[in-house]
Formats: sequence, structure tokens, C-alpha cells
Amino acid sequence: MEKAEKIEKAEPDYKIGRELFSESEISRRVKTLAGQVVSETKGRDLLVVGILNGAVIFLSDLIRRMPAELDAKIDFMSISSYGNATQSSGAVRILKDVNSDIEGRDVLIVEDIVDTGLTLSYLLNIMYTRKPASLRTCVLLDKREKRQVEVKVEYCGFVIPDVFVVGYGLDYGGKWRHLPSICELDSI
Ligand code: IMP
Repeated sequence: MEKAEKIEKAEPDYKIGRELFSESEISRRVKTLAGQVVSETKGRDLLVVGILNGAVIFLSDLIRRMPAELDAKIDFMSISSYGNATQSSGAVRILKDVNSDIEGRDVLIVEDIVDTGLTLSYLLNIMYTRKPASLRTCVLLDKREKRQVEVKVEYCGFVIPDVFVVGYGLDYGGKWRHLPSICELDSI
């Protein structure tokens, strides 16, 4: 079952609440993150792998902050996690794999949010078996207090408390990905 779908079935009555991060705050932070990624990329090539659908907007802003001298390529994966309505089991099914061979490449995984860490850690284990030269992760949001497994996050946009958020790629039951800012979800 898709993650967003699980949430919608469990809690149907929500509306957009308080804005946590405005468009301009996000834009400044994304620019800084891109600068860090570029300065710590040793070679001239970088394969940026976005996790669909949530990371699409973040990835597209992030790569446009990378200079032309860096040969940045993009690819995407789509995954679905197994679990019940409120908890991901951490087992991940790959719905769409990357098109590229990542062996020997410098890879940057771009994800919207890390919560328990189960999904990302499972995904990283799969990617490591493919022998990339390096594997780093860049997440827009980190709900650090919810972490159940340790997961390596090199670049993080914002650490947030345990609240459900939508906008800038993040959804609730498929809705509100297109909001330009990041907002909390409120019950009606
Ligand atoms: P984890 O395996 O618990 O770390 O799950 C991370 C995934 O849960 C993310 O990729 C999102 O799809 C989803 N998720 C967790 N928290 C939120 C949220 O606040 N808003 C939208 N999606 C969320």
C-alpha cells in the first residue's frame, strides 16, 4: 500500500494548518545544501537519485543550484513500503528502479522526509550492494525524534518535531504536494 494512502484511510479529516517553512526559507536552505553537496563532491560527476513522488520538487530546486562544471545527472526510484496503517515495517518494494548502473559512481539519494528511518535504511542497504563509489543522502526534513533505526543523513534541510507536514512535494493522501511552502496538517 502507498504510504500516503495508508494515512488517508486511517485519518480522513484534515486541513492545511500552520506554515512551518515559507517559500523563501526553503529556497535559502536548498541553496546552502546544494553548496555543501557540491563542495564535498570530490569527482566531477554526480548521480542524483530522487525518490518519487515526494522528492521531485526538492530535487528540481536542488540541482538547479549546482554549477555547470559539475556533471550532475538525475535518475529516479519509486518505492512502496509494507506495513500497517500507522507503521512502516521497513521492508521496501521497488516499484521503479533507477535506469543507471550506479557501480563506481558518486550517488546522492534525495528524499523528502525521514521519519522512523526504516524506509531509507532499507533503500540504502539495497544501493550499497550495487557498489557505488560513494553514497550520500540528502533529505529535506528530518523527524529525528521518531527514529527507530540509525540512518546516515549527510545533508538535512530542517529538523522538525513529530508533526505531519504537507507541501513542497510532501502529501497527505496524494494531496497538497504542490503547495510552495511546508505546512502542518490540522484536524478539522
Ligand atoms: P520512514 O520509513 O518512517 O522514515 O518513512 C518515511 C516516509 O514516510 C517518507 O518518505 C514519507 O513518504 C512518509 N512521511 C513521514 N512523515 C511524513 C509527513 O509528515 N508528511 C508526509 N509524508 C510523511
